[in-house]
Amino acid sequence: MIRLATIGTSWITESLVEAVGLVDGITVTTVFSRDEARGRAFASGLGVPRVSCDLDELLLDPEIDAVYVASPNSVHAEQVMAALGAGKHVLVEKPAVTTAEAWARLRQEASAHGVVLLEAMRTAYDPGLDVIRDLIPTLGTVRRVRFSYEKRSSRYDLVLAGERVNIFDPALAGGALLDLGVYCIHALVSLFGEPAAVQAAHVTIASGADGAGTALCTYPGFVAEVCYSKITTSTLPSEIQGEQATLLIDSIASPTSLTVQLLDGSSTTRALPPLRHTLADEVQRFVELVDGDGDAAYDQELTAATLRVTDGIRRV
Ligand SMILES: NC(=O)c1ccc[n+]([C@@H]2O[C@H](COP(=O)([O-])OP(=O)(O)OC[C@H]3O[C@@H](n4cnc5c(N)ncnc54)[C@H](OP(=O)(O)O)[C@@H]3O)[C@@H](O)[C@H]2O)c1
Repeated sequence: MIRLATIGTSWITESLVEAVGLVDGITVTTVFSRDEARGRAFASGLGVPRVSCDLDELLLDPEIDAVYVASPNSVHAEQVMAALGAGKHVLVEKPAVTTAEAWARLRQEASAHGVVLLEAMRTAYDPGLDVIRDLIPTLGTVRRVRFSYEKRSSRYDLVLAGERVNIFDPALAGGALLDLGVYCIHALVSLFGEPAAVQAAHVTIASGADGAGTALCTYPGFVAEVCYSKITTSTLPSEIQGEQATLLIDSIASPTSLTVQLLDGSSTTRALPPLRHTLADEVQRFVELVDGDGDAAYDQELTAATLRVTDGIRRV
C-alpha cells in the first residue's frame, strides 16, 4: 500500500484524495498545510488521519512513501526536489515545473534516488485521447490542428477589482499558458510529436500575467494553433482537419464527444464512456509505476516536450 502525503489544500487536492479512494494500492495518510488549523479542517473533512505543518519533518517520515504536490506552479520545483531527495515518489500537478531545464534536474534526482516522478497531467491518462489517436489515420493527411482551452475564470473578477490572485500572479507562475494552454500542448505533442517551430502572441492583463494567448506550431505538412484563455470563453470545439475528414473534439482536456465529419457533410458522433473520476487514471498510472509495472520515461519525456514548447512560447 502506497502511503501518500498531499501538499496544497485547495479543491484540486480534495479531488485527488477522492480519486485515490477509488484506486487500489494507495491511500492518503497525511495532509501538509502551511497553516495548522487549515490543515486540520482539510484533513478531517476528507477523513485523512494525519496533518503536518513541517515539510522537512514530513519528508523524513519513513511511513510516507509518496507525495502529491498541488501548490502554486512556481513552488513545485523546490518541493518536488526536496521530496525526491528524501527518497519519496512524487506525483506533481501540471505544469510540473515552469521550464524544461528544471524538469530535467528533477528527472535526474528521481533517477538518482530510484523513485518515480510523474506529472499529474490528467489529459495524458484520459482514455479519450487514445480514441482520438486511433481516429487520426481515418482523416486523411492532416493539414491543420486547432486545440483550445479558453474558459473565463471567476477569479478574473478579483483581478479586475484590483486584488492579487495566485493563478493570475506571474510571481507564482500563474497565467493562461501554464494553467490551461499546457493541456492543449501536452495533447498536441502526445498525438503529433514536437513541432519544428513555434510562434506566439498573448494578451497581458493588469496583474502582469498572460490572460490569453495563441501559439502557432509548425509541423512538416501541417500547422497547429493552440488557443488558451482565462479571461474569455470559447464556444468552439477543438479540431483536427484532414484532407478527407475533420475530427471535432468537444474538449481536448477532457473529451466526452467526438464527431467525424466527412467531405460530403455527413458525420458520425461518438459519446465517450464517462470516467469514474477525472483524476483516477493518473493516480492508477502512478500506482502502477511505483509498483514497478512500467517505466516513467515515456510520460516524463512528454512533460519535457510540453515544457520545451511552453519555453518557446514564453521566449517570444
Ligand atoms: N489537474 C487539474 O485539473 C488542476 C486543477 C486546478 C489546479 N491544478 C494545479 O494544481 C496546482 C495548485 O493550483 P491551485 O489553483 O489549487 O493553487 P492555489 O489555490 O494558489 O494553492 C494551492 C495550495 O498551495 C498552498 N499555497 C498557496 N500559496 C502558496 C505559496 N505561496 N507557497 C506555498 N504554498 C502555497 C495552499 O495550501 P496551504 O496554505 O494550506 O499550505 C493552497 O491551498 C497548480 O499547479 C495548478 O496548475 C490542477
